[in-house]
Amino acid sequence: MTPEMLSERQRLELPSWSIVTDKRRAHIARVVALLRTWAEALALSAAEAQAWTDAGAWHDALRDADEPRLRAETGDLTRPFGLLHGPAAAGRLVASGETRQEVLDAIRWHTVGQTSWSRVGRALYMADFLEPGRSFMQTDRAFLASSVPLAFDQVFRQVVRMRIEWAIREGKGLAPETVALWDSVR
Ligand SMILES: [Fe+2]
Repeated sequence: MTPEMLSERQRLELPSWSIVTDKRRAHIARVVALLRTWAEALALSAAEAQAWTDAGAWHDALRDADEPRLRAETGDLTRPFGLLHGPAAAGRLVASGETRQEVLDAIRWHTVGQTSWSRVGRALYMADFLEPGRSFMQTDRAFLASSVPLAFDQVFRQVVRMRIEWAIREGKGLAPETVALWDSVR
């Protein structure tokens, strides 16, 4: 880990109700670092840059909570367990007074995607997949990460494609939102 990443990690502020392992916290820090890099390169307004950072910092806040808790928090008894942490975190944020709908939507849908996303949702979806700590396709993903400020929509489309290809290869199902997202970008 580079000194820059270490300082990002130390500055990372997670909600008090977060349930995350150290490994998860490191992933979250890398996602936030990538979002900050893109926000800077795109010269976003301070408000939008803050939205990107907050979405990154909070998206996996309940990623390591157990299934009974996430089902109880979301009231969702049918969706796969792995899809519940986004909605659960968004629910907690609403309860704690967060009102930025685009930040809430970015977090709520970050696992499956959402056609109505503004730029923050799409940025989080890309950063979650392109952050450098994941061990697969490192060269391709690093190239895509570096291309986001120049070709945001094209990289987004490619990330949607790669995430769906992976899901199918692993024999996983596709959420209706994911299928709709692909239809909207292909
Ligand atoms: Fe994540």
